[in-house]
Amino acid sequence: MNIVLVGFMGTGKTTVAKLIAEKLSLLYVSTDEFIESAELKSINEIFSEKGERYFRDVERKAVKEVSAKDGQVIDTGGGVILSPENITDLKRNGIMVCLWASPDVIYGRTAKFKHRPLLNVPDPKGRIKEILKSREAFYDQADFHINTDKIKMDEAAEKIIEIYITRVGK
Ligand code: S3P
Repeated sequence: MNIVLVGFMGTGKTTVAKLIAEKLSLLYVSTDEFIESAELKSINEIFSEKGERYFRDVERKAVKEVSAKDGQVIDTGGGVILSPENITDLKRNGIMVCLWASPDVIYGRTAKFKHRPLLNVPDPKGRIKEILKSREAFYDQADFHINTDKIKMDEAAEKIIEIYITRVGK
Protein backbone atom coordinates (compact mmCIF):
# COMPACT_ATOMS: atom_id res chain seq x y z
CA MET A 1 0.00 0.00 0.00
CA ASN A 2 1.27 3.50 -0.87
CA ILE A 3 0.48 6.85 0.66
CA VAL A 4 -0.17 9.35 -2.13
CA LEU A 5 -0.07 13.07 -1.47
CA VAL A 6 -1.88 15.30 -3.92
CA GLY A 7 -2.71 18.98 -3.67
CA PHE A 8 -1.91 22.40 -5.02
CA MET A 9 1.63 23.79 -5.15
CA GLY A 10 2.70 25.11 -1.76
CA THR A 11 0.33 23.03 0.33
CA GLY A 12 3.24 21.13 1.94
CA LYS A 13 3.27 17.84 0.02
CA THR A 14 7.05 17.47 -0.15
CA THR A 15 7.75 18.29 3.50
CA VAL A 16 4.89 16.13 4.75
CA ALA A 17 5.73 13.20 2.43
CA LYS A 18 9.36 13.17 3.62
CA LEU A 19 8.28 13.23 7.28
CA ILE A 20 5.88 10.33 6.78
CA ALA A 21 8.43 8.29 4.83
CA GLU A 22 10.98 8.73 7.58
CA LYS A 23 8.57 7.89 10.41
CA LEU A 24 7.10 4.81 8.72
CA SER A 25 10.33 3.69 7.02
CA LEU A 26 8.71 3.85 3.61
CA LEU A 27 10.38 5.01 0.43
CA TYR A 28 9.91 8.70 -0.49
CA VAL A 29 9.24 9.14 -4.21
CA SER A 30 8.56 12.41 -6.02
CA THR A 31 6.94 12.31 -9.46
CA ASP A 32 8.58 15.67 -10.29
CA GLU A 33 12.04 14.33 -9.41
CA PHE A 34 11.28 11.19 -11.43
CA ILE A 35 10.42 13.38 -14.44
CA GLU A 36 13.51 15.57 -14.05
CA SER A 37 15.79 12.51 -13.92
CA ALA A 38 14.08 10.87 -16.88
CA GLU A 39 14.26 14.03 -18.99
CA LEU A 40 17.58 15.33 -17.63
CA LYS A 41 15.93 18.75 -17.43
CA SER A 42 14.35 20.89 -14.74
CA ILE A 43 10.56 21.29 -14.66
CA ASN A 44 11.07 24.92 -15.76
CA GLU A 45 13.13 23.79 -18.77
CA ILE A 46 10.58 21.15 -19.75
CA PHE A 47 7.75 23.71 -19.66
CA SER A 48 9.67 26.38 -21.55
CA GLU A 49 11.28 24.11 -24.15
CA LYS A 50 8.52 21.56 -24.73
CA GLY A 51 5.35 23.02 -23.20
CA GLU A 52 2.85 21.93 -20.56
CA ARG A 53 1.22 19.32 -22.79
CA TYR A 54 4.52 17.46 -23.12
CA PHE A 55 5.10 17.74 -19.36
CA ARG A 56 1.67 16.16 -18.69
CA ASP A 57 2.53 13.25 -21.00
CA VAL A 58 5.80 12.60 -19.18
CA GLU A 59 4.00 13.01 -15.86
CA ARG A 60 1.50 10.36 -16.96
CA LYS A 61 4.36 7.94 -17.72
CA ALA A 62 6.00 8.71 -14.37
CA VAL A 63 2.75 7.95 -12.51
CA LYS A 64 2.30 4.66 -14.37
CA GLU A 65 5.77 3.53 -13.40
CA VAL A 66 5.79 4.81 -9.82
CA SER A 67 2.28 3.56 -8.97
CA ALA A 68 3.21 0.02 -10.07
CA LYS A 69 5.30 -0.31 -6.88
CA ASP A 70 4.29 -0.54 -3.22
CA GLY A 71 5.51 0.69 0.15
CA GLN A 72 6.12 4.27 -0.93
CA VAL A 73 5.08 7.75 0.02
CA ILE A 74 4.39 9.38 -3.34
CA ASP A 75 4.80 13.15 -3.55
CA THR A 76 2.95 14.19 -6.69
CA GLY A 77 3.05 17.42 -8.71
CA GLY A 78 0.05 19.70 -8.16
CA GLY A 79 -1.47 18.94 -11.56
CA VAL A 80 -1.27 15.16 -11.41
CA ILE A 81 -4.99 14.91 -10.66
CA LEU A 82 -5.88 16.49 -14.03
CA SER A 83 -5.58 13.02 -15.57
CA PRO A 84 -8.31 10.56 -14.55
CA GLU A 85 -5.93 7.70 -15.42
CA ASN A 86 -3.41 9.08 -12.93
CA ILE A 87 -6.06 9.10 -10.21
CA THR A 88 -7.09 5.53 -11.00
CA ASP A 89 -3.49 4.28 -11.00
CA LEU A 90 -2.55 6.07 -7.79
CA LYS A 91 -5.68 4.98 -5.92
CA ARG A 92 -5.42 1.34 -6.95
CA ASN A 93 -2.84 0.56 -4.26
CA GLY A 94 -2.70 3.87 -2.43
CA ILE A 95 -4.48 6.01 0.11
CA MET A 96 -4.84 9.38 -1.58
CA VAL A 97 -4.61 12.37 0.73
CA CYS A 98 -5.10 15.89 -0.54
CA LEU A 99 -3.34 18.75 1.24
CA TRP A 100 -5.24 21.99 1.00
CA ALA A 101 -4.43 25.64 1.74
CA SER A 102 -5.93 29.04 1.04
CA PRO A 103 -4.60 31.21 -1.82
CA ASP A 104 -2.97 33.69 0.60
CA VAL A 105 -1.07 30.96 2.42
CA ILE A 106 -0.07 29.31 -0.86
CA TYR A 107 1.17 32.65 -2.15
CA GLY A 108 3.17 33.21 1.04
CA ARG A 109 4.83 29.82 0.73
CA THR A 110 5.57 29.92 -3.00
CA ALA A 111 6.44 33.58 -3.71
CA LYS A 112 10.16 33.26 -2.92
CA PHE A 113 10.71 30.30 -5.26
CA LYS A 114 11.13 30.37 -9.04
CA HIS A 115 11.00 26.66 -9.90
CA ARG A 116 7.25 26.53 -10.59
CA PRO A 117 6.60 27.65 -14.17
CA LEU A 118 2.84 28.07 -13.67
CA LEU A 119 3.46 30.69 -10.99
CA ASN A 120 6.21 32.64 -12.77
CA VAL A 121 3.68 35.20 -14.02
CA PRO A 122 3.06 38.91 -13.31
CA ASP A 123 0.11 38.23 -10.96
CA PRO A 124 0.90 34.96 -9.16
CA LYS A 125 -1.79 35.43 -6.50
CA GLY A 126 -4.49 35.87 -9.14
CA ARG A 127 -3.14 32.83 -10.96
CA ILE A 128 -3.20 30.74 -7.78
CA LYS A 129 -6.87 31.63 -7.18
CA GLU A 130 -7.77 30.87 -10.77
CA ILE A 131 -6.02 27.47 -11.01
CA LEU A 132 -7.14 26.43 -7.53
CA LYS A 133 -10.76 27.08 -8.45
CA SER A 134 -10.45 25.22 -11.74
CA ARG A 135 -8.99 22.17 -9.95
CA GLU A 136 -11.35 21.94 -6.96
CA ALA A 137 -13.39 19.09 -8.42
CA PHE A 138 -10.22 17.14 -9.21
CA TYR A 139 -8.75 17.48 -5.72
CA ASP A 140 -12.15 16.47 -4.29
CA GLN A 141 -11.52 12.96 -5.57
CA ALA A 142 -8.90 12.24 -2.90
CA ASP A 143 -9.87 9.88 -0.07
CA PHE A 144 -8.94 12.38 2.66
CA HIS A 145 -8.40 16.15 2.85
CA ILE A 146 -6.21 18.07 5.26
CA ASN A 147 -6.03 21.86 5.43
CA THR A 148 -2.46 22.94 6.21
CA ASP A 149 -3.22 26.66 6.66
CA LYS A 150 -3.01 26.58 10.43
CA ILE A 151 -1.27 23.34 11.35
CA LYS A 152 2.41 22.45 11.37
CA MET A 153 3.71 20.05 8.74
CA ASP A 154 4.52 17.39 11.36
CA GLU A 155 0.90 17.55 12.59
CA ALA A 156 -0.30 16.96 9.04
CA ALA A 157 2.14 14.04 8.80
CA GLU A 158 0.83 12.57 12.08
CA LYS A 159 -2.78 12.79 10.87
CA ILE A 160 -1.86 10.91 7.70
CA ILE A 161 0.09 8.28 9.64
CA GLU A 162 -3.03 7.69 11.77
CA ILE A 163 -5.15 7.26 8.66
CA TYR A 164 -2.60 4.85 7.20
CA ILE A 165 -2.31 2.76 10.37
CA THR A 166 -6.11 2.53 10.67
CA ARG A 167 -6.30 1.36 7.06
CA VAL A 168 -3.28 -0.92 6.94
CA GLY A 169 -3.18 -2.00 10.58
CA LYS A 170 0.55 -1.59 10.96
C1 S3P B 1 2.47 21.81 -11.08
C2 S3P B 1 3.03 21.60 -9.84
C3 S3P B 1 4.46 21.37 -9.63
C4 S3P B 1 5.09 20.75 -10.89
C5 S3P B 1 4.78 21.59 -12.08
C6 S3P B 1 3.28 21.75 -12.33
C7 S3P B 1 1.01 22.05 -11.20
O1 S3P B 1 4.68 20.50 -8.52
O2 S3P B 1 4.60 19.45 -11.09
O3 S3P B 1 5.39 22.84 -11.89
O4 S3P B 1 0.47 21.92 -12.31
O5 S3P B 1 0.36 22.35 -10.16
P1 S3P B 1 4.48 20.97 -6.98
O6 S3P B 1 3.02 20.86 -6.66
O7 S3P B 1 5.28 19.97 -6.21
O8 S3P B 1 5.01 22.35 -6.84
